[in-house]
Amino acid sequence: MTEASPEQVLKQALKASQVWWQDMGVDAPILPAAQVKPAAVLKPVKRPAQQHTPNTPDISAQMTKATEQAKAAPTLDALKAIIEGFDAGVLSDHARNMVFARGNPDADIMVIGEAPGRQEDESGQPFVGPAGQLLDKMFAAIDLDEDDLYITNVCNWRPPGNRNPNEPELAMCAPFITRHMELVAPKLVVIVGGISLQALTGKTGIMKMRGQWQSLDINAKPTPAMPLYHPAFLLRRPELKRDAWRDLLAIQKRMSG
Ligand code: URA
Repeated sequence: MTEASPEQVLKQALKASQVWWQDMGVDAPILPAAQVKPAAVLKPVKRPAQQHTPNTPDISAQMTKATEQAKAAPTLDALKAIIEGFDAGVLSDHARNMVFARGNPDADIMVIGEAPGRQEDESGQPFVGPAGQLLDKMFAAIDLDEDDLYITNVCNWRPPGNRNPNEPELAMCAPFITRHMELVAPKLVVIVGGISLQALTGKTGIMKMRGQWQSLDINAKPTPAMPLYHPAFLLRRPELKRDAWRDLLAIQKRMSG
C-alpha cells in the first residue's frame, strides 16, 4: 500500500468529520452568517513537504505492523499487552492510557463504541463518563448489566483535543478490533455510533442505519450486529431516545429468540 500524503490524510480526516456532523444532523453552520469566515481565509497554509517527526510513524507501515501483531495474539491479555506496547503515533503519544475493555469477556453481547473521551483516557476504562453512564442505563432498561456485556471501542486511544479518529487512524486500529472480536466471539454485537458503524461495516449514516440489523463476519461466522445511536448524541437529542428504546427491544428479542 502506498503511503498517504499529509494532504490526503488531512482530506480524509476532514471528510470523516464532515460525515460525522452530517450523521449528527448538522447541515448548517452554527455561527451567524456574518461570523463564518469566507473560504479564502481558510485556504490551507503551504508547508514544507516533509512533515513527519520521529513521533509520527508512517501509518501504512503501522497498519501492517498492527495486522501482524494482532493476528498473533492468542488471548485477550496478549492482545491488550500488544496494543499497550504499540506505537500509534499521534494517538498513543497524546493519550494518557490505552483503553482496552470493561465487562465480561465471556458475555454473549459485545458493545463497540467509537473512541475514549476524557474520563476514559484518565481511567483506562471505556464508557465511564456521562455517555457511558447513559449507555449503562440503556442496557439496564433491558435487564443487562456489566456481567452480560463486554464493552470496547474501535479506537483504543483518545484522539488529541477529543476530535474524532480519522480514517487512517481507524484503519490502523482495525486489526486490533478485528482480533478483539475474534477472541471474544460474541453472539451479538452492538455498534455504538456512526464512527463505529463506518469502521465495522464500511457504511455511513447512523441516522438511517440505526435499528437495521447488520452482519459481521467474526471467525468466519455471520454475527448479527445492531447499530445504535451514540449515547453522547442522545444526551444532546433526548427526543431520539424513543428510537434507541426500539433498537434495545430488538436486541432483547433477538437474544431471547
Ligand atoms: N464514547 C465512546 O464511543 N467510547 C467511550 O469509551 C467513551 C465515549
